[in-house]
Amino acid sequence: MILLDNISLKPFNTFHIDVSARYFCEFNSTEDVKQVLSEKKFTDTPILVLGGGSNLLFTKNYDGLVLKNTLKGISLDKEDADYYYVKAGSGEVWNDFVMYCLSHNYAGVENMSLIPGSVGAGPLQNIGAYGVELKDVFYELEALHIKEGTLKKFSNAECKFGYRESVFKQELKGQFIITSVTFRMSKRPLLKTSYGAIEKELDAMGVKERNIKAISQAVINIRTGKLPDPAKIGNAGSFFKNPEISGETFQKLKQRYPGMVAYPLDNGRVKLAAGWIIEMCGWKGKTIGDAGVHRDQALVLVNYGKASGREIYDLSREILDSVNQKFGLTLEREVNVY
Ligand code: EPU
Repeated sequence: MILLDNISLKPFNTFHIDVSARYFCEFNSTEDVKQVLSEKKFTDTPILVLGGGSNLLFTKNYDGLVLKNTLKGISLDKEDADYYYVKAGSGEVWNDFVMYCLSHNYAGVENMSLIPGSVGAGPLQNIGAYGVELKDVFYELEALHIKEGTLKKFSNAECKFGYRESVFKQELKGQFIITSVTFRMSKRPLLKTSYGAIEKELDAMGVKERNIKAISQAVINIRTGKLPDPAKIGNAGSFFKNPEISGETFQKLKQRYPGMVAYPLDNGRVKLAAGWIIEMCGWKGKTIGDAGVHRDQALVLVNYGKASGREIYDLSREILDSVNQKFGLTLEREVNVY
């Protein structure tokens, strides 16, 4: 384990923003990270744990300690009549974990194929795609308390999962490092193809037998068809969350904008497609310098080359303002801004 000074974070964030970290250290064991954290000089230093760096935007140099997580390993912990309990190191690449599950016929994560990032970042923001969220397959996780150096287990309920939310983004923010996650994977797959685009893609693929591998492939096709590959164009997936509004507000908006894309929720509220709203404000495909709004998905902001984090942040600010002016809605950023 080597502690480095003033390291560029460009290779470690999918927006490819060129900022530096005051201190940088990669860890591949809990003991390693405990040792670094016990060093006196880090007692009051801000700490940022990096997984895949796929859900953050750096707007300035990070004046603290960046810990790059490379905790690896996937294993079957136990099984019962209905489920396999599969434990994965938090530094595993999320999609490698999905592919492992497919090859072992463990069902439940196929709809979340190709989401960028690490296993550990999954519960942090309750990642989700095409009708499934991480909380649907989550069993428990283990995390290291940064100040106390002790390991604690968190059940599904204790993580307080919400839409792109968990206790680790709220009241426990910055207090724990997730070290492993255990998933409860079905022995009898419950295929979720209700998200319109999946059915369409399965038909287009000419799939006769619907199974988890076919769904994964359909999701991969949809994603690669419209989401920019972070290895080629800097981005962090959806930049904003889809806003939730009351049924009453929705009815008023619907009168003015009959084409508004919306999903009714169980509690009478309505979730709107922020991508559609941003497109309606005229942002889709626009660029300011090297910062831009993706041409196929307006919810995704991109770095076409040398944009700074500040430029991307300023673009997001302009989008927020125009959405507010046109629709009277306040969008929230989904990416973590540093
Ligand atoms: N839409 C537009 N214009 C756009 C983008 C979208 O009209 O520029 C419309 C689409 O036509 C569709 C609706 O909005 O009717 C929803 O679009 P899409 O299926 O692309 O999904 P999304 O709501 O924009 C969410 C997640 C994605 C996830 C997809 C699929 C959030 C913030 N984003 O996007 O997650 O992949 O659903 O499940 O919830 C991420 O979190 O980084 C992410 C990429």
